[in-house]
Amino acid sequence: MKFFVDTADVAEIKDLAATGMVDGVTTNPSIIAKSGRDFAEVIKEICGIVEGPVSAEVTATDVKGMIKEGEKLAKIAENVCIKVPLTWDGLKACKHFTSNGTQVNVTLCFSAAQALLAAKAGATFISPFVGRLDDIGQDGMQLIDDIVTMYSQYDHFETEVLVASIRNPVHVVDAAMMGAHVATLPPAVLRSLISHPLTDKGLAAFLADWEKSGQKKIA
Ligand code: E4P
Repeated sequence: MKFFVDTADVAEIKDLAATGMVDGVTTNPSIIAKSGRDFAEVIKEICGIVEGPVSAEVTATDVKGMIKEGEKLAKIAENVCIKVPLTWDGLKACKHFTSNGTQVNVTLCFSAAQALLAAKAGATFISPFVGRLDDIGQDGMQLIDDIVTMYSQYDHFETEVLVASIRNPVHVVDAAMMGAHVATLPPAVLRSLISHPLTDKGLAAFLADWEKSGQKKIA
């Protein structure tokens, strides 16, 4: 399973990339706004840190505008992945870009029917938002299971399931168990994956016993 980080915080991306766990980055207009940075500038910087896909979202809502913006974004770096919303115009723009070999992440997916359309439009990634579904009392992870099962029925579908709007480590593990290709994680969730109190307790006990034994460290 690939891990993307869901942030435009360059310091966080650099720090997490050093763990070897970061296969890509996702951003959206809210994340870019939060960074306070110039859009093109921050995407360029992120693309220089991470080799994998870096999603940059268009803000036009008509296909012509999306293609115009997407073409500019694609020129920033080879690993830019154009992000488009799950609308008819977004799907048309998706078809346009993926037919020309540019990666596309179709975002704001909340149903299996929408995911089916994105695969037919040749999306590189489909982004179902699990946390936002949970927030309104629906089962976000059930949607992931449905999409993974649906896509696996068709050999010609190449679209990868990119689990988005992740809120906790359980979402990540469940997504992996379901065979989702990618999870995009807020940095705090990625960092939390390693935590277990018994690891901390066990390590402290090992080190205390070692200290008491009078053994010397291997030089
Ligand atoms: C990623 O591509 C999405 O934009 C992001 O995961 C949305 O997360 P949120 O629902 O926490 O804003």
